[in-house]
Amino acid sequence: MPISPCSLVPRPPAGLGLPDAGPAGASAEGGERVAGDAGLLAVPFGPDLALQEAAAGVALPVPVAALLAHHRAKGEAGEIVEVSVADGDSVGRVLLYGVGDGSADALRKAGAAVARRGRGRDGLRAVLPEGPVEAFVEGALLATYTFRMGEPQKPGPVERIEFVGEGAEAAVERGETVARAVALARDLANTPASVKSPAWLAERALEQGVAAKVWDAEALRAEGFGGILAVGQGSPNPPRLIQLSYEPEGATEHVVLVGKGITYDSGGLSLKPTEGMKFMKTDMAGGAVVIAVLGALAALGARVRVTGLIAAAENSFSGSAQRPSDVITQYGGRTVEVLNTDAEGRLVMADALAYADAELDPDVMVDIATLTGAIGIALGKGLGALFASDDTLAAGLAAAGETSGERLWRMPLIDDYAPALKSSVADLANVEAGSTYGAGSITAALFLREFTGKRPWAHLDIAGVGRSTADEGVFAKGATGYGVRLLLAWLTGR
Ligand code: BES
Ligand code: MN
Ligand code: ZN
Repeated sequence: MPISPCSLVPRPPAGLGLPDAGPAGASAEGGERVAGDAGLLAVPFGPDLALQEAAAGVALPVPVAALLAHHRAKGEAGEIVEVSVADGDSVGRVLLYGVGDGSADALRKAGAAVARRGRGRDGLRAVLPEGPVEAFVEGALLATYTFRMGEPQKPGPVERIEFVGEGAEAAVERGETVARAVALARDLANTPASVKSPAWLAERALEQGVAAKVWDAEALRAEGFGGILAVGQGSPNPPRLIQLSYEPEGATEHVVLVGKGITYDSGGLSLKPTEGMKFMKTDMAGGAVVIAVLGALAALGARVRVTGLIAAAENSFSGSAQRPSDVITQYGGRTVEVLNTDAEGRLVMADALAYADAELDPDVMVDIATLTGAIGIALGKGLGALFASDDTLAAGLAAAGETSGERLWRMPLIDDYAPALKSSVADLANVEAGSTYGAGSITAALFLREFTGKRPWAHLDIAGVGRSTADEGVFAKGATGYGVRLLLAWLTGR
C-alpha cells in the first residue's frame, strides 16, 4: 500500500531534549526525544498565535509569540513556521502549523501541509489539533500518498506518522480508515490497463471482505446485459459485472451504488486522440470508489445496507469492436443506437442501473462515473457534478460533500433536452446526433435516468475531479479517489 502504516501514540509529548517523564517503557537513556527518531514534531497554533496546551512543554529557542510575529504568521490552515531546535546531540525540527478556523476543511489542509513538509523524513510526530481530528489525519495521510508500480510499493514521503492526542484514538482510527479507502481507490485507478483487466478489477473487489458476485461474459450474455457486452466486445479482456453486498444486521434502508468500471477507454472505433486517451486508465475511477467504499463500511460501523455494482469493461479498438450505428439491447430490453462508441460509460451504467431497479429493490440509487469530459470544463477540478431525481437525496449528498471536503454542485436534469437522445431506429440514441441541444453532461445524465425506473436516484459525474494534474493539498498527481470520502460521510450519516 502506498500509504504506509501509521501508528497512534495517544499521549502528549515530553519537553524537547528533556528526559521523558511520560509513559512506562520509554528508553532509559535520556528518555524519549520529543521530536521522535526523525527529529520532526508538528504542533498546532491557533489564529491567536498562542501555542495550544498540548505543546506547552516544547522548549523553543525563542519566545513563540515573537517567533510567529517575526514570520508574520497568521495561523491560517496550511501555514507552517519551521524552527530548528536542539534535540539531544543533534538538531530537530518543530513545525508550528496553522489550523485556520478549525473546521474540517481547514484541518484537512493543515494535515496535508504538515505531511508534505515531512517529506524525505523517516517519521513525523504530529500533535493533533482540537476539533474534527479525523480530517487532520485524512489530510496528513492522503498528502503522503504516492503510487509506484511493483511489489512491495515504495513508501510515501513520510514513512511513519504518529498522531499524538489525548482521547483521540477513535477519531484517528476513523481518519485512517477513510484515508486507506481513498488510497485503495487511487491505487486501483492508477494501475495501468496492461495489468487492470475487468477480471483483475473483479479480483480486487473480491478482496474487500464483503459478500460478492461476479458475472463473466457468458453470464452477462445469459442475462441480457447487452450494454456491458457491447462495450467489452472489442477487447481480448472480457467484461465483468461485479456486485458487492454489505448487509449489517437491523438495516432498514437499502442503498445501491453503481460505479463506471471502464478499465481503459480508447474511445473504441470512435477513437480518442492520444492526448485525451493517455489518461483513460482512470476511467474506472467511479468503480474504484464503489469498491473502496464497500470495503470500509464495516470498519466505520455503517448501519445502512449497501449493494455496490461495478460495470467493468475495456473499450477497445479492434475488428470485433462495436461500430457507430450498431443497435444494442440493454438489460431489461430497451434498444440503443450507438452513434458514438466513445459514449460507452452510459451503456455499461444503464445495464447496471436497470438491473438494480429490476432486481435489487433499492430505496435509493447513486451512481458515480467519469462520464463526460464536458463536466470538467463546466465545473473544473474542484467540484463534482450532482444530478438527482430527488431533492432530499440531492440535499443529503451535497451536505456530505461539504463535510467531507469533496464538494458537489447540482446540475439540472432538464426535460427540454431529452429529445436530444431520440433515435429513428431504436428506443434511444447514446449521443445527440446533431448539436441542437448541446450540454453533453446533461444529456448523458438524461440517458442514465431512462434506466432508473421511478426510484430516487443521483448521478455523480466525476470526470473533472477524478484525476489531479499536480501534487496539491490532499491530492497527489494522478487518481484522486474523489467520491470515497463523500460517499462514506453520506452513508455513515444514515
Ligand atoms: N471517459 C470519457 C469521459 C472523460 C473525459 C473522463 C475526460 C475523464 C476525462 C467518456 O467515456 C467519454 O469519452 N465521453 C465523451 C462523450 C461524447 C462522445 C458524447 C466525451 O466526453 O467526449
Ligand atoms: Mn469514452
Ligand atoms: Zn469513458
